[in-house]
Amino acid sequence: MTATDEKADGDGPTIEAYYLESRTFPPPDGFTDEALIGDDGIYAQAEDWQAFWAEQAKALDWYKPWDTVLEWDLPFAKWFVGGKLNVSYNCLDRHVAAGRGDRVAFHWEGEPGDTRTITYEQLLDEVQRFANVLKSLDVARGDRVAIYMPMVPELAVAMLACTRIGAAHSVVFGGFSADALKDRINDASAKVLVTADGGFRRGAPSLLKPAVDVALEDTPSIDHVVVVRRTDSDVSMTEGRDQWWHDLMSASDLPAECEPEQMDAEDLLYLLYTSGTTAKPKGIMHTTGGYLTQVAFTHKYVFDLHEDRDVYWCAADIGWVTGHSYIVYGPLANGATSVMYEGAPDTPDKDRWWSMIEKYGVTILYCAPTAIRTFMKWGLRYPEAHDLSSLRVLGTVGEPINPEAWVWYWQNIGGGRCPVVDTWWQTETGAIMISALPGVTTLKPGSATFPLPGIGAEVVDESGQRVTLGGGYLTLTQPWPSMLRGIYGDPERYQSTYWSRFEGRYFAGDGAKLDDEGYLWLLGRVDDVMNVSGHRISTTEVESALVDHPTVAEAAVVGAKDATTGQAIIAFVTLKADAEADESHGEDLREYVANKIGKFGRPKTIVFTDDLPKTRSGKIMRRLLKDVAEGRDLGDTTTLADASVVEEIKRRSTVNPSEE
Ligand code: WTA
Repeated sequence: MTATDEKADGDGPTIEAYYLESRTFPPPDGFTDEALIGDDGIYAQAEDWQAFWAEQAKALDWYKPWDTVLEWDLPFAKWFVGGKLNVSYNCLDRHVAAGRGDRVAFHWEGEPGDTRTITYEQLLDEVQRFANVLKSLDVARGDRVAIYMPMVPELAVAMLACTRIGAAHSVVFGGFSADALKDRINDASAKVLVTADGGFRRGAPSLLKPAVDVALEDTPSIDHVVVVRRTDSDVSMTEGRDQWWHDLMSASDLPAECEPEQMDAEDLLYLLYTSGTTAKPKGIMHTTGGYLTQVAFTHKYVFDLHEDRDVYWCAADIGWVTGHSYIVYGPLANGATSVMYEGAPDTPDKDRWWSMIEKYGVTILYCAPTAIRTFMKWGLRYPEAHDLSSLRVLGTVGEPINPEAWVWYWQNIGGGRCPVVDTWWQTETGAIMISALPGVTTLKPGSATFPLPGIGAEVVDESGQRVTLGGGYLTLTQPWPSMLRGIYGDPERYQSTYWSRFEGRYFAGDGAKLDDEGYLWLLGRVDDVMNVSGHRISTTEVESALVDHPTVAEAAVVGAKDATTGQAIIAFVTLKADAEADESHGEDLREYVANKIGKFGRPKTIVFTDDLPKTRSGKIMRRLLKDVAEGRDLGDTTTLADASVVEEIKRRSTVNPSEE
């Protein structure tokens, strides 16, 4: 297989055709001999899945062992009941106690090129001190702390400090708007917000503090704000509320040590808000013992981590679940050495990632297919300018990977010697659920292959009957340690969203296909959730931001196939009388959404229309709009109240929305 320079992935992911991919890639020569798992015996071992997970939990240090592995009262699970542990202890102290304190935890690199090397011992020191800072701000066990930060080491320090004292964190991705931050703070009733003046993005400071100041006009629960100085920008500090991180951390009376709280296995570890099918984001709850067990297990075996020699880099943002589980908790629980990068892949040039891989000798790289497709577009000369021979395992996550991108990654980044593990999971699952094991599995480009040992996943049809060949809905058939424990403040919604579509099964919201060898092929969301560059966002969230604008009467949003970002947000908008349906108004609306949600929620294209296609009962027919947006032939439109509407929209819409 060859890939030519400058060949763009022009046709984009052809999701429907993935399962027709027939190339296979067994583990590369010699890989299996050195792999932590070198044969498929582990699958048989894991048939008693509760015993299997109990075995994995023993890899952690517990103050008190559990009495019961699992209490399962469908759909409510409790894992390792009665067990006591502390997450920061498992991520830091135990490595230091074992004499590995001088091992590098993070090679951090700021976008402008400044760097920090942080050992486990140094990280432990900072975490203990910041835990004492939080205590001095009256944060106690059981409280919530909001975190809104760029990709700086203090972000990981703040998270671990929360776990040390038993407070739950709620990290809000730095790309979210003031409004989104406010809603998340209020839903969690967070007491303290940890933030920064800003971070660096594409060569310039990108400020966070001004958005914080707007958000905090309406967040009664916040008593204190801690601000990391990162960009030296001039930001306003509110007397009595805002304090600098460096001032608090250098206070002469700040104790250096902080005894870790002995937490119950089922105590809340964190909240992470994610988009569902309604406009209100869900506060996904993750707890302590089961979560850490599964992120540590999957991080070690899916990436074949040899923690004494690997240099691991997950190029996600900690603001999303991938960063929580695979930049912070999994790697640190395993005592791994990681790279952490603040900025954009094209700053100062489009070879930034490859130069960092060469510089740090990265051996394991984990990223999103959308990044790979972007690199394909940029051309081979960027990776070719660097020595990437240190790499030995490649991973992807966040969206289906099209076989062309998979093979490009395998060939041009991995040099044909690195297994590519395509890992399927969700904010809700907390950890990887479906993935190859790199020393065992024969890979097929575009297939996430098989459920991991200890995980039950099946495809079912519309009526919930198991499908053994062909397409349907992905479901999970048994509880797993890192599963969400619920939606914060809304147990009813937990049950109805995930556990009511198919009886006794967790419904993931994804379509999937099984081929004749039992390989799973993920086909993308089947609900109203879009996946744009691996970022999850619901159509209704964008719609409600649009109808919030004074000139908008009605809006319907669809995710249309996009060659680079997987899906692109296309909004069909009807305006109130006397509003102008022109380009500059379209621009205003795009900006309006970016301000309401965050830049990643900005529609790529706005199509103004006099009417939206509706069924006779008044429901907007999104399927038709998606067909229009993707330039497909319209199938059956007979249920339409007024068929001429679609013709009109087709006429107006840009079928191939222009690039940014
Ligand atoms: C999608 C990200 C195909 C899927 C960890 C899922 C994937 C949603 C894959 C969760 C994959 C994630 N192949 N699709 N390997 N990984 N997805 O919560 O639609 O941000 O439901 O978690 O991303 O997105 P979330």
